Amino acid sequence: MDSKSYGFIGGGRITRIILKGLHNAGASFPNVIVSDIIMGYLEKLKQSYPEICISYNDDKLPARQDIVLISLHPPLILDLLKEIKPELKASAIIVSLAPKITIAKMQEALGGFDRITRVIPNAPSIVNAGYNPICFSSGISETEKSEILGFLSPLGPCPEVKEEKLEAYSLLTAMGPTYLWFQFYELRNILKEFGLNDAEIDESIKKMTDGALKTMFSSGMSPEEVMDLIPIKPIGDVEEKIKETYRNKLLSTFNRIKP
Ligand SMILES: NC(=O)c1ccc[n+]([C@@H]2O[C@H](COP(=O)([O-])OP(=O)(O)OC[C@H]3O[C@@H](n4cnc5c(N)ncnc54)[C@H](OP(=O)(O)O)[C@@H]3O)[C@@H](O)[C@H]2O)c1
Repeated sequence: MDSKSYGFIGGGRITRIILKGLHNAGASFPNVIVSDIIMGYLEKLKQSYPEICISYNDDKLPARQDIVLISLHPPLILDLLKEIKPELKASAIIVSLAPKITIAKMQEALGGFDRITRVIPNAPSIVNAGYNPICFSSGISETEKSEILGFLSPLGPCPEVKEEKLEAYSLLTAMGPTYLWFQFYELRNILKEFGLNDAEIDESIKKMTDGALKTMFSSGMSPEEVMDLIPIKPIGDVEEKIKETYRNKLLSTFNRIKP
């Protein structure tokens, strides 16, 4: 990490994910301070990274750093910003990791402060395989953009996107792993009963998934042609139900997180 100081407000899952990804890439955190209202989360971070500063129930300290990352759930963010406004340096950059709360709303809560970045991170950043779409407010210079992108780059690509697309990315890249992981873990449980060991199953899941994606994106075939390559579909009779579930659940979640 560079010589800037970093304050994380909220020391839960996404802060842990980001710090672990940066740590894997060789970073240490003498210039990082994390606040949370759960002491256990802070202690866990301190155990993993003894050089880190922790701030229990006090967001003022992280708010005074060069880069202030907001790792809170959306309903808490605007009140938090109003609370930390007097602490912010004029040169600080706010990095929000949340959906729903737009740059315009944050600017309003901060009395016009225009140095705001929004990122929608995704959990595979923890193994440096994230895909973390990002957008910047107009007050962030090109040099500062490069600095923020440099800070996040060990986690995986950060494509710059239009702000209004971030909630759709939330559903795809941030929540997407939850659509897949439970199925793969269940496949692993089931396939063990059929005689494969853990190593055989894990290698098969990796290769099968990789090959399935390559077929989808590189075969030049239509979706119908791809899906017709395999005549026996053990769960084919519930596909319509699963598709309907996807449509309904994603739509209701999108309606909840859209600005
Ligand atoms: N996890 C992901 O993969 C992911 C991906 C993309 C985006 N995000 C976004 O990241 C944000 C945080 O999510 P998360 O997964 O990290 O949630 P989380 O694990 O629940 O962590 C949030 C933490 O912030 C604490 N908190 C609440 N108010 C606080 C305050 N004023 N000061 C300091 N800490 C406070 C919470 O305590 P309480 O639980 O007691 O409230 C909790 O420990 C959300 O907006 C989420 O949408 C997460």
